[in-house]
Amino acid sequence: MSLEFELSVVVLAAGEGTRMHGDLPKVLYPLCGRPMVHYVLDAAMALNPQKVVLVIGHKGEEVRDNIQSRWPRQNAEVDFAWQHQQKGTGHAVMCAKEALLDGDPDVLVLYGDTPLLTGDTLLAFAKAHKEKGAHLSLITTVLKDPAAYGRVVRDPRGNVSRIAEARDLTPDESHIYEVNAGIYMARASLLFDLLSRVGNHNAKGEYYLTDIVSLASASGHKVVAFVCEDEGVVQGINDRWALAQAEETKRRALLKDLALSGVTVRDPSSTYVDSGVTVGPDTTLEPHTYLRGSTTIGPKCSIGPGTEILNSKIGGGSRVWMSVIEDSVIEDGVQIGPFSHLRPNSLIKTGALVGNFAEVKNSEVGLGTKIHHHSYIGDTDLGQGVNIGAGTVTVNYDGKHKHRTTIQDGAFVGCNANLIAPVTIGEGSYVAAGSTITHDVPQDALAIARERQVVKEGWVSRRSKDNGQGRNQ
Ligand code: UD1
Ligand code: CA
Repeated sequence: MSLEFELSVVVLAAGEGTRMHGDLPKVLYPLCGRPMVHYVLDAAMALNPQKVVLVIGHKGEEVRDNIQSRWPRQNAEVDFAWQHQQKGTGHAVMCAKEALLDGDPDVLVLYGDTPLLTGDTLLAFAKAHKEKGAHLSLITTVLKDPAAYGRVVRDPRGNVSRIAEARDLTPDESHIYEVNAGIYMARASLLFDLLSRVGNHNAKGEYYLTDIVSLASASGHKVVAFVCEDEGVVQGINDRWALAQAEETKRRALLKDLALSGVTVRDPSSTYVDSGVTVGPDTTLEPHTYLRGSTTIGPKCSIGPGTEILNSKIGGGSRVWMSVIEDSVIEDGVQIGPFSHLRPNSLIKTGALVGNFAEVKNSEVGLGTKIHHHSYIGDTDLGQGVNIGAGTVTVNYDGKHKHRTTIQDGAFVGCNANLIAPVTIGEGSYVAAGSTITHDVPQDALAIARERQVVKEGWVSRRSKDNGQGRNQ
């Protein structure tokens, strides 16, 4: 579905969000890893608007910088209008007047705290507004518990006459279950004419955008309510409980999309996937799996249980269990875990194995290389077919600087070796178990760097005699 006419969109994002009781400006609180206002802007993009104006105010620089650097649709230009003092939603729209009065476009007004809104809902709304020849349209929905939402007051003939804000309700109006979703459409000229007549004589002493509804209907304009059946879509986030509920809804929708595209989600209640994460078909997500940020999982993988993957790429046919992976690339057919930690900037090549309490950081692990047990591999380039014995440590830090270790193809590092960087272990060479290697090992060599074992035959008996004691005393 697309629109045959052009419109401009204004999104209100200047409020402080006092009910969140936190430091972030409200519209930046994340939902499945993305700030809520990103979802609103995404939904607006479905209308292919000629202009998008974001009204910012409280911590406005933070909101603007976030949109400019983090909102992925940088090709769509967003203008910013400042509302320096938060005098209400009506006042906020007024602050965008200059940016919007270029010609007399249709204007869609959205609130930045309704992240479950979809482009499809907005398209249907904008079309209905035109088809019905409305002067002012608004989206409403019917809720069992209307709580803090503004109520839609209708006249005896069923026409919308005004919006009553929750704080200003009369006893009669508190029985109304149809609520205002905070999405409106009107021509710019009418919108700003109505707004110029809005006062602030109400419980909050604010200029309510909602008052344009009574002003429009009183002056004979056609006001049309678009009743949205799906109440969740227009949910406004005012506190963290609403945020938690919206996140749950969003997360379930993301998991459903994955499941329908061929991903097995064993336990949706304990699987957390950020918006934007992709998972290939025939992959299984086991319980307690967290896929965060810009993570991409290939096909036919098994991920989890008990795994967190952040901003990483996992190739096809890989298995990751009981492990944490951050900012790294894992190629195909790799096995990670159980209980491994891949720290940022690690590249694990095809067929490699990192397991059992191994930690890898800022390192490349070559094709088919094995790091089985209790190892620390940091700032290291490992070739292909290398074997790292249990308890091996690359000693990369001298207290001031980090140094690199190179372990070339086919090398074999015995258990419990310390490799003091900078150092190179040559191709096909062996490092004896328990060695502390401080110098390069050439290819094909065996390096042993440990005390030679001393065996003192009969030492125990001799000691017993000296003490006048028996062996077992
Ligand atoms: C608003 C509506 C209410 C509706 C509900 C739907 C008004 C007066 N009330 O109430 O009828 O049911 O949304 O979710 O509009 N903002 C500014 N500047 C301001 C004040 C707010 O930019 O001075 C922005 C906020 O950042 C927020 C949005 O406007 O994104 C809505 O403001 P909020 O205070 O959350 O309004 P509600 O009380 O939820
Ligand atoms: Ca709100």
